[in-house]
Amino acid sequence: MDMEQIKQVGIAAALNGGKVLQEHFGNLRSVRKKGAIDLVTEADIRSETAIIATIAKAFPDHAILAEESGSHAGNGGRWIIDPLDGTTNFAHNLPLFCVSIAFAVGDDILAGFVLAPLLNELFVGVKGKGAQLNASPISVSPIRTLSDSLLVTGFPYDHPTIFDQLMERFGRCLTATQGVRRLGSAALDLCYVASGRFDGFWEQHLKPWDTAAGFLVATEAGARTTVFSGAPYSIDSDEIVSTNGAIHDELLSILER
Ligand code: IPD
Ligand code: CA
Ligand code: CA
Repeated sequence: MDMEQIKQVGIAAALNGGKVLQEHFGNLRSVRKKGAIDLVTEADIRSETAIIATIAKAFPDHAILAEESGSHAGNGGRWIIDPLDGTTNFAHNLPLFCVSIAFAVGDDILAGFVLAPLLNELFVGVKGKGAQLNASPISVSPIRTLSDSLLVTGFPYDHPTIFDQLMERFGRCLTATQGVRRLGSAALDLCYVASGRFDGFWEQHLKPWDTAAGFLVATEAGARTTVFSGAPYSIDSDEIVSTNGAIHDELLSILER
């Protein structure tokens, strides 16, 4: 596997998706609902088309798993794509959103690309090669205790199904830390753990395209990432806890109490 080529294509795909998002930002014609509060816009669809076209041109045989168009069979590698992570922010003209693209072979995530086009921030992680923000190395925060930490979380669209548990966990974390934020993009949440802006992130009911790229960026920046039980995160885990490592056990014990 030529990881340098994977990296170049992943970055090009993210930039092409980001360009579409930038063109549509503040200027949407249609916003559809996939569920009661789960939105999809023409920007999601057009960004995904641009990303897939870029990848397919370089790697016509590779498989793709993309949020809006689903699974495309293939072999040799698999690209996991969220063409717009943070659609609700986007639809409300809040510039906190990104394109998220991971590359995996089997279940092994080998690269992650997360681009926030309006913030001009590109996060890249390649397995064994570290993580970068706009080509400069990044690493997780040096915070040692939960009481000194700033956390971030998210609420899934089906939050009514787990509402009490969600609020209990949120409340316990709020009282144990310096604060808890809710940005609205799981991929950026993970990249912000990677760059030390947050000390930890947790969320339930996520999909592979929300987490795969950010997981690799965070891991390469020194993060520890598991599910709530402490077992390792994998592409198909629908929940995630990612921290700077130092506060991980403390956070797990508060989440599971
Ligand atoms: C959502 C965002 C949000 C998270 C939701 C996700 P979308 O993805 O990552 O932060 O809380 O659970 O579904 O729908 O904007 O791609
Ligand atoms: Ca998403
Ligand atoms: Ca999305």
